[in-house]
Amino acid sequence: MTRSLEAFQRAQRVVPGGSMRQSTWFAPHPPYAMRGEGCRVIDLDGRAIVDCANNFFSLIHGHAFAPVVEAIRDVVGRGTAFGMPTEHETALAETIRARSPRCEQIRFCNSGTEAVMFAVKAARALTGRPAIAKFEGAYHGAYDPVEVSLASDPSNWAGPDGDPAAVAYARGTPPGLLADTVVLPFADADRCAVILAREAHRLAAIVLDPVPSRVGTLPVSSATLDVIRTASRRHGILLICDEVISFRFSEAGAYPLFDLEPDLIALGKIIGGGLPVGAIAGPADRMAVFDHTRGAPAVPQGGTFSANPLTMAAGLAALTAYDAAAAERLSALGERLRARLSAGLAAQGLPAQVTGFGSLFRLHLHATPVRDYRTCYASAAEKQALSAIHLGMLERGFLMTPYCSGALSTPMGEAEIDGIASALLDCAAQTARTHPWEA
Ligand SMILES: Cc1ncc(COP(=O)(O)O)c(C=O)c1O
Repeated sequence: MTRSLEAFQRAQRVVPGGSMRQSTWFAPHPPYAMRGEGCRVIDLDGRAIVDCANNFFSLIHGHAFAPVVEAIRDVVGRGTAFGMPTEHETALAETIRARSPRCEQIRFCNSGTEAVMFAVKAARALTGRPAIAKFEGAYHGAYDPVEVSLASDPSNWAGPDGDPAAVAYARGTPPGLLADTVVLPFADADRCAVILAREAHRLAAIVLDPVPSRVGTLPVSSATLDVIRTASRRHGILLICDEVISFRFSEAGAYPLFDLEPDLIALGKIIGGGLPVGAIAGPADRMAVFDHTRGAPAVPQGGTFSANPLTMAAGLAALTAYDAAAAERLSALGERLRARLSAGLAAQGLPAQVTGFGSLFRLHLHATPVRDYRTCYASAAEKQALSAIHLGMLERGFLMTPYCSGALSTPMGEAEIDGIASALLDCAAQTARTHPWEA
């Protein structure tokens, strides 16, 4: 028995499902991490694995990055959290603002989920409207309104008049909550325009991740962007840009690359240097909604561990080392990986494709071009084959997400990229024989 299996069996007694996070579990059981080092994680059985999951894209410098370790070490001996502000929080806020001007003011919280939640609350308070619009399939964390239609399927995704239906994610979601989430089709700009015009009177915000992972990890089209900009301007609907993942795309984040002027930006993942983090950012007039110094704020915002000095110091060290050149280098490596994978899959004649943007990639097991959640949706056979590829990659020493997606980290170089590409191509070819997925 492996030490990972032993650890899993022990966990099953105290943890439902044996894993603290749905996302870190896969059958038969995940390997347990012992330690990380650069772009590799060493599991309990001593195997070194190239880490393309990077704790779900939050570790831009991989594991145990020396400047982050140093920054944490420097702070930890002097206390981990205070019922007082520290200068660390201001320093990280200043750093983010200096590189991303639309983040004029910032509030830190503990997760991307909280960041999106507070941004939605802020939009409701600023507009006096109850509803939000989000794209079908898009993941924005575990706040109920943005979970709507996160995992709809062909049996329930068709709504009235062909609009996407608002489908509950968790059982027991109140119907009122579904009524206040308007679901948009990612690749149908014309229909988005119709839906937004019809619902505008009650829409506080459109929540947009410009490269939504579960919608296919592909950039939003310029047509959809045009519709969002126009509807937002014409109807006073605020734009919340969810940059929890996409902040990695450039020194300033994602919004400048997509020519957006978000009212609020939700941040998380890499800005915490590997520790738990989230942030709501935006122009000062929007962020004033959280100002508690002039009586009760429109939106009370806090959190026991928000802006703790460990996270703030780790985040500052991580961002300082992730400058424009580092972001460009990582995006170029991402392009190299996607190009190698696409060429290799075509040469093998497999019904498969690779999507992605910047330093992200994702494998899909069908030839129909992925344009949105529905064209990204994997059939039962494709899901089985994706699981087999995920496990096959692990056997070859590479960890991807269970969706067969990944994110690069700065310790990676061309050798790792080419290693990922050849392992994935080999694994896909083998899986086509053992788990044929074509209908
Ligand atoms: C785009 C996006 N928004 C929000 C979240 C939620 O972040 P967290 O897991 O820190 O709550 C995630 C997490 O993966 C995400 O990918």
